[in-house]
Amino acid sequence: MNQTQLQVPETLSDLIKQLHEIFANDKISVDEVHALMESYKSNPAEWTKFAKFDKYRYTRNLVDEGNGKFNLMILCWGEGHGSSIHDHSNSHCFLKLLQGQLKETLFNWPDVKLKNQELTKQWEKTFHENQCTYINDTIGLHRVENVSHTESAISLHLYSPPFVSCHTYDERTGHKNQVKMTFWTKFGERTPFETSTSKENN
Ligand code: SIN
Repeated sequence: MNQTQLQVPETLSDLIKQLHEIFANDKISVDEVHALMESYKSNPAEWTKFAKFDKYRYTRNLVDEGNGKFNLMILCWGEGHGSSIHDHSNSHCFLKLLQGQLKETLFNWPDVKLKNQELTKQWEKTFHENQCTYINDTIGLHRVENVSHTESAISLHLYSPPFVSCHTYDERTGHKNQVKMTFWTKFGERTPFETSTSKENN
């Protein structure tokens, strides 16, 4: 596709509008989406209504369904909260920091020929407010963590195409489990309580 000149979004609504325009095309440029997400200057007044925390684990809060092309969500990470090591179900994953810091650890895929094999790390990086990182399944698996004991963290994630389940991986054995992804809130409203517990971030 033609990559248009980057127009810096002034608000979260502008960012969402521009994302809709980009994803209306059949092919997207990862660099363009990455640059656009990074160029949005986080303004808490624009996203606080979506940022709902839970005491025990990180929350996933749906912001926009991207005309079925992507899901945009805000993840709220309390002190010490982290995800499992997981894949991305063949989707693009963009992660932008709105507040605080998050550590991303990138792992190699386990070797399918070996039964019990510890996952190997490629790198660990810390991302700061307004920075954006990107992953897909060809790059590897990752874990995202708020390692701070004193500060929460808030991130904006875009997944395209949207997905409802992924696999989590045990670091010591490489064993995988399919898990359902759930939302803590949708469009600022608490989602109905589910009787079966979601395991995506246990
Ligand atoms: C991520 O993949 O960046 C975070 C995990 C999640 O979406 O729950």
